[in-house]
Amino acid sequence: MRRSVFLTFSAALLLVAACTSKKATTSAKSPADVVAEVKKNYTADDMAHGKELWQSNCNKCHKLHDGPEFSVEKWENVLPRMIKRAKLSDDDGAKVRAYLIANSKM
Ligand code: HEC
Repeated sequence: MRRSVFLTFSAALLLVAACTSKKATTSAKSPADVVAEVKKNYTADDMAHGKELWQSNCNKCHKLHDGPEFSVEKWENVLPRMIKRAKLSDDDGAKVRAYLIANSKM
């Protein structure tokens, strides 16, 4: 009896540990981390290209929404949908995202 209580307790502990570590890896990135990552991975040329693509593709259905209008979270949420709507390639979409995230509201 003692032993089974101990085993149940250990199993519960393991489960809690597994869940917390999983949470830590999926939501560890702060908005500042995302911005820093984008600035590290994209060159000034990439950003300039992203800006051009944004200016010529993102004002067809509504006004041009600029980076500082929204937070990183909002951009991450809305951009996958908009990049698809604007029919940008993955590569071009990534540059538009980099430009907007780098200039997003902090
Ligand atoms: C084919 C039309 C179309 C294109 C092209 C398009 N959008 Fe949109 N966009 C919409 C529609 C419709 C909505 C509102 C519904 C929604 O959020 O899905 C919207 C909403 C948004 C919003 C949310 C505004 C708010 O106040 O919440 C942002 C930001 C945005 N678009 C950015 C972009 C960017 C950046 C691009 C270029 C990559 C783009 N859009 C291209 C149709 C488009």
